[in-house]
Amino acid sequence: MPSQLTRIVCVAAIGASTLNAQTPRQSPLTSARASQLADSILRLMTLEEKIGQLNQLPGRGTQTGPRAPTGGEAMIRTGRVGSFLGIFGADYTRELQQIATRESRLRIPLLFGLDVIHGFRTIYPIPLGEAASFDPARVEFSARQAAIEATAHGITWTFAPMVDIARDPRWGRISEGAGEDPYLGTVMAAAQVRGFQGGDKGTGLGAPDALLSTVKHYAAYGGAEGGRDYNSVELSERTLWETYLPPYQAAVNAGVATVMASFNDIGGIPAHSSEWLIGDVLRDRWGFKGLVISDWGGIGELIPHGVAANKGDAGILGIRAGIDIDMSDAVYADSLAAAVRTGRVPLALVDSAVKRVLRLKYALGLFADPYRFNDAARERLYTLAQPHLDAALQAAREGIVLLKNANRTLPLRKNLGSIAVIGPLADDGAAALGNWAADGRPEEAITVSAGIRKALGASARVVNVRGAPVDTVDTTGFAMARSAVADAEAVVLVLGERHNMSGEASSRASVELPGSQRDLALTVIRAAASGNKPVVVVLMNGRSLAIPELVRDAPAIVESWFLGNQHGRAVADVLFGDYNPGGKLPVTFPRATGQIQLYYNHRNTGRPADPANGYTSKYLDLPWTPLFPFGYGLSYTTFAYSSLRLSAPKIVAGDSLTVSVDVKNTGDRAGDEVVQLYLRDSVASVAEPVKSLKAFRRVTLQPAETRTVTFRIGADAFSLYDRRMRKVVEPGMFTVFVGTNSDDVASTHVQITGDTLVLAPATPRFR
Ligand code: BGC
Repeated sequence: MPSQLTRIVCVAAIGASTLNAQTPRQSPLTSARASQLADSILRLMTLEEKIGQLNQLPGRGTQTGPRAPTGGEAMIRTGRVGSFLGIFGADYTRELQQIATRESRLRIPLLFGLDVIHGFRTIYPIPLGEAASFDPARVEFSARQAAIEATAHGITWTFAPMVDIARDPRWGRISEGAGEDPYLGTVMAAAQVRGFQGGDKGTGLGAPDALLSTVKHYAAYGGAEGGRDYNSVELSERTLWETYLPPYQAAVNAGVATVMASFNDIGGIPAHSSEWLIGDVLRDRWGFKGLVISDWGGIGELIPHGVAANKGDAGILGIRAGIDIDMSDAVYADSLAAAVRTGRVPLALVDSAVKRVLRLKYALGLFADPYRFNDAARERLYTLAQPHLDAALQAAREGIVLLKNANRTLPLRKNLGSIAVIGPLADDGAAALGNWAADGRPEEAITVSAGIRKALGASARVVNVRGAPVDTVDTTGFAMARSAVADAEAVVLVLGERHNMSGEASSRASVELPGSQRDLALTVIRAAASGNKPVVVVLMNGRSLAIPELVRDAPAIVESWFLGNQHGRAVADVLFGDYNPGGKLPVTFPRATGQIQLYYNHRNTGRPADPANGYTSKYLDLPWTPLFPFGYGLSYTTFAYSSLRLSAPKIVAGDSLTVSVDVKNTGDRAGDEVVQLYLRDSVASVAEPVKSLKAFRRVTLQPAETRTVTFRIGADAFSLYDRRMRKVVEPGMFTVFVGTNSDDVASTHVQITGDTLVLAPATPRFR
């Protein structure tokens, strides 16, 4: 089908920003036609068939086991299942769809869900790495391509984006989101939703390559106490509204089709039973019209949470709270019919949930053509298609953050005769892909060693030495590492975490380098220094790491996260200067685990840290400052900021402000800079953060080029939740900061005049 190939090539060429430029039309999710159709089907359904639509079953082997569970086909025939999770493949999903649409009584098509988090078979950087690009158009584009590839394999629904704000890097799932900042989180959330669904506000749905998107995990899953996965969350309502909720709301505003509840409780109310979160906030305050799905087994977990005595009670709590689909543990399938028949659950609640499922199926066009996602030719065409691999390479390059580059150690010469590549991750394809790699195959990933080999060509000697295991203490390989250094002209150390040391159920009590890797690094760095050889550390990890000794001793450090299929190529491009890194940290790097939680947008306290005063907010044994601040990242060139200016020194509450700054490339090569704008409301009715990101832009500047970067910030940027939890703009003085990271900024002031402006009424009371 050459026309389809042409389409992806075109999509790749035109870039993501034009992807939204579709003719505006109504989302098929909310159209009157969808409702009518859902109503007409609902009238024909038995109670068991209705509950079947709310039942989502996992495939055998979940992630990569593309077969229905035992008895699954019989359940399709009898209308006892409405969607599957973890099943894919154009042919096999067609077979199952045929059973549903030919052999079941009402012929309702199935949905096929999968965690397409950062790619399906072509794998892009993990979301934390993509966030480091500070390039929402790039992130949208990766999601678009992932949707094109996944839908070609029969997938109709992804459980992404994960937008949980995370201030605690011990929590392994920090790797799946955009980091610690609510503004960056909102921008990335909306970009991903648009990308997956093929347009803004659900308008792209209906195309055969549009994927239903799910914002998760609602809400505040990233606030898990102690950074331990699945743990309870204790947050003030203010912090919840200010910091944790905005990215979910941004996804809703972008038209996300579905929302997934989170495993945690907030202050004793598990999200799967929270009428406040789903009813008062999501539906009433934000106007969400789509569907809510449980997390895996989340309804049944209301029992160990201690709010339900048995599955029957758990199901009642779930449906009453507003959970429409029960993922994987069949609580609804086993108990909801009895609850309806005994009057404990009104039938109307079940009906509304079923209508939402039917609307999704309608929105995807499945009633008109149930096999539109089952085309083996399309599957062959899009799998690892060249435009996808090219874009994945660019996404990987953009996510790389240069943390240190003393004496211009980098870039390395390309005419090296020999190089030692040392470390346990240098040749690890799974690590290149990272966690939640869907159908990604480690053998299809370019490792760092492979990337270096390719870049240097056959004439260079590339020696690979593991040196130490990833996470056990073992120094026996150090001698071999030292001798590799002795024989090489340059050294690259590849250190960090295995792919499964972050992600779900992968919390770490310490965020230092695991095993003997720190000692390996110091040994190798010392050996290289005594031989006067350049040595570079490449980090691969899914969280921020505490690496103070490396920062002290290593001349150059490159943060590469897990960048996907093209990991090694992108890293080699940076190491040898074919690409000038421009990513920035979406998370603060602490000096030690004990500093956590450490984030840039903290409140000032009554005793901000003061080196001259012991009775201020700090530690006896460590500085209070981070190792690297949020937004930090270097380049092979340098940038100078000047002429920070405002459209006016005073504005009336509600007006917008224009902020401009001149940024000059003062080095000798082209490079990218992420210009960042922060605000501080210095005196307000409640204590506000010392700085909050409100805008950013990634720009490319040629040597000696100066660019005026202009931001227009609206009323929302100046708002806060006042003591009555109203969203307001208060008059007073604001500091405007613009700079290269959250710490290194120039500043000026703007005065907001007039009366307090109420942007939104008080938030619904937590219950
Ligand atoms: C995770 C979700 C995921 C689901 C389905 C759960 O364990 O928390 O993020 O979408 O599994 O794979």
